Amino acid sequence: MRSLSQRNLVVIGQGYVGLPLAMAAVDAGWTVVGLDNSEKRVEALNSAKSPVEDISNTTLEAAIKSKKYKASTDFKNIESAQVVTICVPTPLNDQRQPDLSALQNATMSAAPFLADETLLVSESTSYPGTLRNVVIPIVEIHRSSGKKNLFFAVAPERVNPADQKWNQKNTPRLVGGIDSQSHEIAMDFYSSICDKPVAVSTPEVAEAAKLLENTFRLVNIGLVNEFTKLWDIAGLDVNEVISAAETKPYGFLPFRPGIGVGGHCIPVDPLYLTWWARNMNSSAPMVEMADQINLEMHKFVATKALFLIKENKTNARILLLGVAYKPGVSDTRETPVAHLRDYLKTLGHDVQWFDPFVDVWDGVSPVSQITGFDVVILAVNQPGIDLSQILSQKIPVLDCTNSHTNLDGVTSL
Ligand SMILES: NC(=O)c1ccc[n+]([C@@H]2O[C@H](COP(=O)([O-])OP(=O)(O)OC[C@H]3O[C@@H](n4cnc5c(N)ncnc54)[C@H](O)[C@@H]3O)[C@@H](O)[C@H]2O)c1
Repeated sequence: MRSLSQRNLVVIGQGYVGLPLAMAAVDAGWTVVGLDNSEKRVEALNSAKSPVEDISNTTLEAAIKSKKYKASTDFKNIESAQVVTICVPTPLNDQRQPDLSALQNATMSAAPFLADETLLVSESTSYPGTLRNVVIPIVEIHRSSGKKNLFFAVAPERVNPADQKWNQKNTPRLVGGIDSQSHEIAMDFYSSICDKPVAVSTPEVAEAAKLLENTFRLVNIGLVNEFTKLWDIAGLDVNEVISAAETKPYGFLPFRPGIGVGGHCIPVDPLYLTWWARNMNSSAPMVEMADQINLEMHKFVATKALFLIKENKTNARILLLGVAYKPGVSDTRETPVAHLRDYLKTLGHDVQWFDPFVDVWDGVSPVSQITGFDVVILAVNQPGIDLSQILSQKIPVLDCTNSHTNLDGVTSL
């Protein structure tokens, strides 16, 4: 078997997943080429401009200067790699179904350059069977002739952007190889960058576990959002109810209500599961229902916010504070705040936004002065957001983040 001692790694996709992986591998002594099909991104990376918050420009610069890292668009770099990992997006298409085109394209581009005895790992999230039935057949068709032996594994990424505690190194990593040799070499690779690789029996177990992890969150958030509407009818503070339930020392995990779910994982991955279930002539009704509840949550939020305005205005000035999909990131992809914005606009209101992490959102600039609003909706509690200026103007605030429970003028969801 090709030795891992040479430690040449290619990471395909240099985004929220691929770049932290590349930096963790550099730390562990690997020489890494970060491949990306975006020339603009590659140029920025090679100029030590990090596109993700978790990797600083200084870290990137040090990796480049040490000659242990470079970014490239050239898939020929794969020829000298012992390990190739695919970290490209797996979003939904317009019908809200799995869109594997990036994964398929990346695999197709890599296949002709895979040297004998290279390990190819998919870290991208997808439904069970993706490695076996999508990735491997593409490699088999597009690899150059005369190449004999390749190893394949799945190791779903668990990165949590802006998390100060859990990172590539200390987050246990599931690893499932397609056969025993693949498994062994994949475990070897992940042992070099991660404290605790966890062996599972097949790639499908790893793929399914990743969907379970994220579906677990979607369903529980859906449940708590449903409770939020019910307790509102009863005049109860849902956050007080959750905190009360949380005092039970076993069998309960607290989830908090919000505008909905955001990011490229929680709103997306469970739909890979529901699609897969339908494809298997089955269904996942609980997941479908949770998805629907979360998708409708912005209407409840809008009603609650409009209720805070003293006069019944048809064209209220509304400020959305925090528009990224979660605190600490600038990423607005799949942000549930977009549903709230669009809904309020269809009701005829003037909707503005501000987020200290976001310069432009869907082509629109933030508001320059936070004055004269009828109501403010704190959608995401970004670090750096200060409510004092708003509250001093007596503008009512709806806090959807349960962050300011004791402030006068602030109402919690
Ligand atoms: N972002 C997260 O928090 C997170 C967490 C766990 C798992 N994941 C999963 O990891 C995977 C990657 O997500 P991400 O957030 O890093 O995406 P991203 O959009 O941040 O980065 C993906 C990168 O891949 C590049 N790319 C796209 N197609 C390519 C191709 N054919 N060849 C080369 N490069 C290509 C893009 O230009 C981009 O730079 C997805 O499956 C996602 O579901 C993401």
